[in-house]
Amino acid sequence: MSGKPFYITTPIYYVNDVPHIGHAYTTIAADVLSRWHKSGGDDSYFLTGTDEHGQKIQTVAEKKGITPIELCNEVVQNFERLWKALNIQNDDFIRTTQPRHEKVVQEIFRRLMASGDIYKGEYEGWYCVPCETYVPEAQMAEGQTCPDCHRPLTKMTEETYFFRLSKYAGPLIKFYEEHPDAIMPKERYNEVVSFIKSGLRDQSISRTTLKWGIPLPGDEKHVIYVWFDALINYLSALGYPEPGEKWEKYWPAARHLVGKDIIRFHCVIWPAMLLALGLNPPVRVFAHGWWTVEGEKMSKSLGNVVDPFEMETLYGVDPFRYFLLREVPFGHDGDFSELALVQRINSDLANDLGNLLSRSLQMIDKYREGMLPAFGAQTELDKEIETLGEKTVADMDALLDRFAFDDALKALWAFVSRANKYIDETEPWKLGREGDVERLDAVLRTLWEALRLSAVLVAPFMPDTAARIWSQLGLEGEPGAGARAAWKWGEGGEGIKVNRSGILFPRIDIEKWKKEKEQRDLEKRAKLDPTAFFKYQEPKPQIEYDDFAKLDLRVALVEKVEVVPKADKLYVLNLDLGNEKRVIVSSIRENYKPEELEGKKIIVLCNLKPAKFRGVQSNGMLLAAESPESRYEVLTLLTVMDDSIPAGSRIS
Ligand code: MSP
Repeated sequence: MSGKPFYITTPIYYVNDVPHIGHAYTTIAADVLSRWHKSGGDDSYFLTGTDEHGQKIQTVAEKKGITPIELCNEVVQNFERLWKALNIQNDDFIRTTQPRHEKVVQEIFRRLMASGDIYKGEYEGWYCVPCETYVPEAQMAEGQTCPDCHRPLTKMTEETYFFRLSKYAGPLIKFYEEHPDAIMPKERYNEVVSFIKSGLRDQSISRTTLKWGIPLPGDEKHVIYVWFDALINYLSALGYPEPGEKWEKYWPAARHLVGKDIIRFHCVIWPAMLLALGLNPPVRVFAHGWWTVEGEKMSKSLGNVVDPFEMETLYGVDPFRYFLLREVPFGHDGDFSELALVQRINSDLANDLGNLLSRSLQMIDKYREGMLPAFGAQTELDKEIETLGEKTVADMDALLDRFAFDDALKALWAFVSRANKYIDETEPWKLGREGDVERLDAVLRTLWEALRLSAVLVAPFMPDTAARIWSQLGLEGEPGAGARAAWKWGEGGEGIKVNRSGILFPRIDIEKWKKEKEQRDLEKRAKLDPTAFFKYQEPKPQIEYDDFAKLDLRVALVEKVEVVPKADKLYVLNLDLGNEKRVIVSSIRENYKPEELEGKKIIVLCNLKPAKFRGVQSNGMLLAAESPESRYEVLTLLTVMDDSIPAGSRIS
């Protein structure tokens, strides 16, 4: 393909879980960008894939009694099936267990070892097995637990190979200062730059505690750390480092889409690895936000994980794709609500776009027996529609250059609405009655042009819909690669007969939908095994009453909640305990807003030895209940039923 190279990637997904809305979101966004660039004549290359090594996969395979590769081969099919269902047009699919990837990881390791960027050393630290990371002491949560998943950490000492990350702090800062758009949105850019400025430590990149990984060349006791392995997919899929392979063309145009949780891997470790290899860091890493579901965190134990297959079956692939990108600005967190999706189908899709098509085609059928009028003289008003169409193309291109999907769609819908208003202004039915054939023809042709342009512009977002509009307009094929580059207002159209067939988006009856949704929810809840989640928790040995009596548990009133600078999970809680005031540091910032806590009575373990978190002394611990399932933890603080009980009251 000729045209400007554009390389777009998604994270490679872990195969220890079924695909959910988070996976669908990034992949759809990447697909839209790739299709947009292809439509504009660029040479786009779109990569997705799966991350198949590491502790998590080994553990899940063990639980299932199968080998890790058997697990991978099974789960990868869910992803492949989903991408088909969601109409994803990726150019390649990489699996980190493929030999083409493994050999590149080993080659890169060898090169960096030879250049002195990797060295052998020893590492001691607190390790979180499920998250596969060491947690620095300053970031540890209460009771030596992981600040991310809240599970207990294990102290480990390992012989390990280090990547000399510290050496690249300066070059990275320089790169980011020179490339302010290399990390988006801006908050993430600032976050990463200040993280690098606070100093970088060398990164351990090998493990001896695990088998399921790529063997380290020359020292087979070790396997390569899963993130070092995984990040390399973006190059190995392009045939790096073979001369003449795709990487030479596409790597300089690399853009990564990632979730906000994995930004440091992509904006600190990965670019440093690239600099060490003498390659440019990615042109851009864009970190999108996270979806909650109907206002709640997505969690397996709550049973509210949005199944993209189900959404596709219920509402169709295009409305689902449209909704995800229209509803929430890319980069912000957002809430997934099926009602909001249904409302968008009714308003944006059925009312605005669907109506424009059906009204226009009906009139071409009625007044012209379906034959498209030739393009001819235009009035000021017709010209205005054309000019707005051209402006919409340019605006959308500029917005999508910054991955502002929602604004790009808003711009397109402003054009669709303008075209709908044009029908009301020109009143073609009056022109028909009055026999003003010439003016009527110009109006019908303007509408057809507006629809043709809408199909071209909507195609990357809703490819099936665009193809349906295209065929109803009487056009051949579909508005795919090159369509936007080739598009011109008023061109061609000789001898075209429109082909009205069926409603684009049938309206959904909200009342009926609500009843069906209730029924679906009931069925889902019934299917959830209510005991499944407790099976995760080993019972603890019996204790004497005296053991329990050692705990000094009390009711505390939360007076004031403050954040700990630079610790995005921690709060400092100022508590009233009746006869004393106390400060407790707790990692519940992701679960509660300060105003949700202030004024509440909670339960505190008072006689726990004080400990320091990020330099702040914590005198005790809050009690909370926590669901143990998945990485989307649910955590809720314990409180008292009768709020009139005074702060300081003992619990027994
Ligand atoms: N394997 C790593 C990525 C390696 S890339 C070299 C990984 N995989 S993952 O399967 O756990 O997560 C993939 C992506 O899903 C992440 O970008 C993450 O942000 C995203 N999401 C997970 N839950 C999400 C939501 N609730 N909402 C939006 N995206 C979320 O991390």
